[in-house]
Amino acid sequence: MRMGRICSDDSRITNLDQTTHHKESILYSSAPMHLKSLTDKIKNKSALVGVIGLGYVGLPLTLRFIKMGFKVVGLDIDDSKIKLLNAGKSYIHHIAAERIAEAVSKGFSATTDFSRAKDCDALIICVPTPLDKHREPDLSYVTDTMDACLPYLRPGQIVSLESTTYPGTTDEELQPRIEKRGFKIGEDIFLVHSPEREDPGNPNFTTETIPKICGGITPACLEAGVALYSQVINKVVPVSSTRAAELTKLLENIHRVVNIGLVNEMKIVADKMDIDIHEVIRAAATKPFGFTPYFPGPGIGGHCIPVDPFYLTWKAREYGINTKFIELAGEINTNMPDWVIRKTVDALNERGKSIKDAKVLLLGVAYKKNVDDIRESPAMELLELLIHKNARVDYSDPFFPKLPQMRKHKINRESVPITAENIAKFDCVLIATNHDAFDYALIKKNAQLIVDTRGVYSERAPNIVKA
Ligand SMILES: NC(=O)c1ccc[n+]([C@@H]2O[C@H](COP(=O)([O-])OP(=O)(O)OC[C@H]3O[C@@H](n4cnc5c(N)ncnc54)[C@H](O)[C@@H]3O)[C@@H](O)[C@H]2O)c1
Repeated sequence: MRMGRICSDDSRITNLDQTTHHKESILYSSAPMHLKSLTDKIKNKSALVGVIGLGYVGLPLTLRFIKMGFKVVGLDIDDSKIKLLNAGKSYIHHIAAERIAEAVSKGFSATTDFSRAKDCDALIICVPTPLDKHREPDLSYVTDTMDACLPYLRPGQIVSLESTTYPGTTDEELQPRIEKRGFKIGEDIFLVHSPEREDPGNPNFTTETIPKICGGITPACLEAGVALYSQVINKVVPVSSTRAAELTKLLENIHRVVNIGLVNEMKIVADKMDIDIHEVIRAAATKPFGFTPYFPGPGIGGHCIPVDPFYLTWKAREYGINTKFIELAGEINTNMPDWVIRKTVDALNERGKSIKDAKVLLLGVAYKKNVDDIRESPAMELLELLIHKNARVDYSDPFFPKLPQMRKHKINRESVPITAENIAKFDCVLIATNHDAFDYALIKKNAQLIVDTRGVYSERAPNIVKA
């Protein structure tokens, strides 16, 4: 198949050829019938978009398509989420209920009925891609979704996988399933991978302002993908294959995890030398080129950073390659909660107290500041370690009035309000997650001891220990 390049009036498409600054679209020279009718529907916004998996990724994307004038149907297997959405309610802190209610008023509905897939012109898959108990990729959510949609596929649809995954998932797992139904990819069904780059809680970027990578199985698939996403995203970056798109997302997250591992190691070195690592990072960040600041913490959390790199590790083994940087960063980051607890034990000891029976208040259980997401949070690991050492542990987090029951952690506690009296009651306040909602001046004034894992306090004080 040949790819022709012709001028387009859509200035939001980035050229693949980085040597020219012309904004051109890449168009398939002999566009087949289904491609033409699909892209026409996309351009005149009569295409019905089906978003599958209405979580942190799928929900903002849904709202963006609706805002840009598309009709969207949401598909999910979680009935409780479907009910909330159809009632105009939100289950994600940073997505206001009014936005859902407005979407519903514009015709948005959510359902568990996958037969609705047949009405959709675009099917966008945003389901989880976790690790299984052997820390290997668990693609079952993706393949289950594809299997649930298969009976309802019809020519003229685009299927886009957004879930983060290893290179080869789209062409090895999704393509054969679709072809088994007798469809030709690139002629009947258009298949792309367009990894999500959502950063929940980051006020500086929204779905539309984060450039979107897109790779297709064939040039016609890519054309359909670029046509779809350029309707809702300011800048679409085409790449040459679904595998390149899959690896792009993994590279981004591996870059983060390795650099966080590096600063966590630097933190331990600086601590031994009695140097404040946060001061050093802030100073280094004044260099206008060649340095990107990453900040240490009590470990890594969230759905992506602790998980995604191991998708590549697993796949690389098939090629006889060990991903040493990923393994090393994983080891350093995984050891962080133990290191923080050792610092806490030492700090209590220096004050004549034992960790056994010490009253410890852990601040922030979410995996990062200002979000209501607790997945893989190192704060939960810290709570477990403290309980294991027989400390008397409580926590405070405005996003979690009660600790949710999790697969790995079952701790029953309710959030302690931050008041001067409450803070003073504890032998130690351990800052795991630095939500903006905490009153840090009040905490500093009243705490007997603060163990600060996030560099909240830049000054030295007798009751503050950095960890
Ligand atoms: N959360 C982030 O910040 C983020 C950022 C970039 C990429 N990602 C990636 O996006 C994907 C989705 O992540 P998320 O954070 O939105 O997950 P999530 O858990 O918030 O949402 C996933 C949704 O999919 C639904 N679901 C599960 N199985 C399903 C099925 N078979 N059919 C239909 N729905 C199903 C769940 O009920 C849930 O509502 C993952 O691959 C993740 O790595 C997430």
